Amino acid sequence: MEFENSLQFAQEQDRNDPLAHFRDQFHQPEINGRPALYFTGNSLGLMPRSAREAVETEFADWAALGVEGHFQATNPWVDYHSLLTPMMADIVGARNSEVVCMNSLTTNLHLLFVSFYRPDQQRYKIISEAKMFPSDRYMLETQTRFHGFDPDDAIIEIEPREGEFLIREEDILAAIETHRDELALVFFGAVNYFTGQFFNLPKLTQAAHDAGAIAGFDLAHAAGNLPLQLHDWGVDFAAWCSYKYLNSSAGNVAGVFIHERHGENFDLPRFGGWWGHNKERRFLMENHFQPMPGAEGWQISNEPILGLAVKKASLEIFAQAGMQALREKSIQLTAYLEFVLKDIFADLAAERRSSVSLKIITPENAEARGCQLSLKLVGSDRQLFEDMTKQGIIADFREPDVIRMAPVPLYNSFEDIYSAGIILKSLLHPK
Ligand SMILES: Cc1ncc(COP(=O)(O)O)c(C=O)c1O
Repeated sequence: MEFENSLQFAQEQDRNDPLAHFRDQFHQPEINGRPALYFTGNSLGLMPRSAREAVETEFADWAALGVEGHFQATNPWVDYHSLLTPMMADIVGARNSEVVCMNSLTTNLHLLFVSFYRPDQQRYKIISEAKMFPSDRYMLETQTRFHGFDPDDAIIEIEPREGEFLIREEDILAAIETHRDELALVFFGAVNYFTGQFFNLPKLTQAAHDAGAIAGFDLAHAAGNLPLQLHDWGVDFAAWCSYKYLNSSAGNVAGVFIHERHGENFDLPRFGGWWGHNKERRFLMENHFQPMPGAEGWQISNEPILGLAVKKASLEIFAQAGMQALREKSIQLTAYLEFVLKDIFADLAAERRSSVSLKIITPENAEARGCQLSLKLVGSDRQLFEDMTKQGIIADFREPDVIRMAPVPLYNSFEDIYSAGIILKSLLHPK
């Protein structure tokens, strides 16, 4: 599509957008009494309006029924998580038996590592991306140490080449080949939080399997951002949070995927609790843990219903919109953001009006990125970001000069992008 950096063009795109009405289903934060231009769905998604009512329903049932709510609530609590399962499975491309909503992200990764990182003296290495999200890195370090290995030896980080920002797929594949006899696990953030690079999960999974290793992914920046096909790609396990693209509120219940070829392997070590125990016998209060088949058998505790209610409300919006339609809009929105930014910087450069230059470090190819663009604003500092916030743009800043912006197809518009461009230009070249 031919883009134009004009208000008429942006408004025309919004008028023709079949998903535009979903924006009204979300609360919009305000700055200076006006709706903010919100580009931080990659950090914390906006609140669905339906979330409040969903929680009110559970409060009302709790007030009226007390403990009977486990079986008599509008949505009986004893099995509440299963209401979310088909919608969650759809978003990540899984069978229902492969997915369960539980706990939080880093906690779930530790639990999955109990089953899927089983190093011995020969095979104990983990290949991952350099500069992964710190919590993932701490998880890897403590897991390798827990098994008696030195993280500096056991974790192989693949770095971008000198002078580059993105990790080359060929370098990951070469490392897998080089370490094939000592490799236990390939573990990547599916979309890197800093650069927005989306790795080729089917290829990495295949390469890991060819080397006799397991493939696991952190989908924090991928779930609800891009369509995924975890089952078909043969991924062994994955985990994700619910508060970014899945709009379920800060720290809310996360999700896991365990491929069905592992789901009925009861010999896999795992940490048990009553919520993962054979559903038919759970309340018989017997000894001897018998895990349920599928991902549900990795549950430990009974679930926080208020959190699940919010997440259910949010997943219902995804079910209405559809990941494919969201992705089509997302590709256009992010391409439009890229276009507007480049247009502004081309103007400023032509007129020699700004000392700041733009380098977009996120891949140019839509197949290798989701919503997010990471902008390296060479010659700027945190002040520019703070001025943007004062003027109504909510984005985020990473030292020394990177601003991340993620237009989200459920609630961002083309006009948001145009308006952000006007503000950014005025800040880079004050009159
Ligand atoms: C890639 C990634 N991994 C892990 C985490 C940490 O998640 P949690 O605090 O929910 O465990 C985050 C949080 O933003 C993240 O972006």
